[in-house]
Amino acid sequence: MSSLFPTYDSWQIEPDVAKGSWLTSKDGTKYLDYTSGIGVLNLGHCNETVKTAVEKQLATFWHTSNMFENSKQEKTASLITNASGLGHVFFCNSGAEANEAAIKLARKATGKNKIITCTQSFHGRTFATMAATGQEKVKVGFGKMLEEFAYIPFNDVAALVNSVDANTAAIMIEIVQGEGGIHKIEQEFLDAIKTASEKFGILVIIDEIQTGIGRTGKPFAFQHYQIEPDIITIAKGLGNGLPIGAMVGKKELAKHFGPGSHGSTFGGNPVSIAAAEATLQVVFEDDFLLEVIEKGNYLINQIHENLKDIEIVKEIRGMGLMIGIELVNAGQPILLELQKQGILVLTAGPNVIRLLPPLTTNKTELDLCIEKITKVIASKQPVS
Ligand SMILES: Cc1ncc(COP(=O)(O)O)c(C=O)c1O
Repeated sequence: MSSLFPTYDSWQIEPDVAKGSWLTSKDGTKYLDYTSGIGVLNLGHCNETVKTAVEKQLATFWHTSNMFENSKQEKTASLITNASGLGHVFFCNSGAEANEAAIKLARKATGKNKIITCTQSFHGRTFATMAATGQEKVKVGFGKMLEEFAYIPFNDVAALVNSVDANTAAIMIEIVQGEGGIHKIEQEFLDAIKTASEKFGILVIIDEIQTGIGRTGKPFAFQHYQIEPDIITIAKGLGNGLPIGAMVGKKELAKHFGPGSHGSTFGGNPVSIAAAEATLQVVFEDDFLLEVIEKGNYLINQIHENLKDIEIVKEIRGMGLMIGIELVNAGQPILLELQKQGILVLTAGPNVIRLLPPLTTNKTELDLCIEKITKVIASKQPVS
């Protein structure tokens, strides 16, 4: 009998060691890990640069509090503001906390309450972020949700126009819906968001928790489009495995988040900050990001080529190294069969196989993944 709350259906794989794109389990099986700890290990397992930075910090001090001056937080924040064009950073420990901060700031800065999000979105598991999430399944059994969230179908301009009003504080979106099945936003929808935000004084919050930190081949996925967010939220890849999140906002929002308005004991912890600084110095390099785009194009093109005539494949979608293969069949049996073949992948919703390789992966590994996925998916017949 486990002593853990059974909140996860855990896989029957216990990691022993992991390095780069590879994970070896306690029973000695070696896996190509294209889950990256759910989009966290953008530089792969046990990255040496991050490890050295963390070890250096561990040898000095581990934690103080945010009452102390902190030049390392400042330096890491400026890497984020320089790459995003935004003005200020609030450090926290997770994606949900980053979104929680964004929701609080948007309400305080605008003096309004309503937040519009999209159906099939995912924004976290705290009370506000669960309410923000446009999926009923995450809310079941938790009673009355935090009020004043409205949901519109993703990319539905007419629904957006109908939903915005004088009480709308913010519109919160993902550029690629990750948990919702790897769906990309359309420029037309972003144009409508921009028009509405200008008309009603609405803040645009972009949740970059899964898409940020180089995952799509730009520092942040919004940079593939014409849109200027007021706030972005990041976490996952930010610390390459150490827990850290951040809410990043325009300069003019700073006056609404003064002393005493918001906080976090562990937010911006020196060890996590050391990991984030080292990670960002690698990921935000132009050459590194160009390679992400090249690898992403190679992977999606090869998947298209290999799976185009397979009956159970419905659609292949992606951006950079964030790729979804939508099937007519359930994804879970395919995920389990890929595990037997030594490949770790994720699902996104019931029918989508989701690939989130480390951004440092190489062609040999990509080819291995393509070969195994083709073999497993090609062996399946449609299940009605
Ligand atoms: C887009 C998005 N937002 C928010 C979250 C929540 O992040 P965390 O699990 O770190 O709280 C996730 C996690 O999967 C996510 O994908």
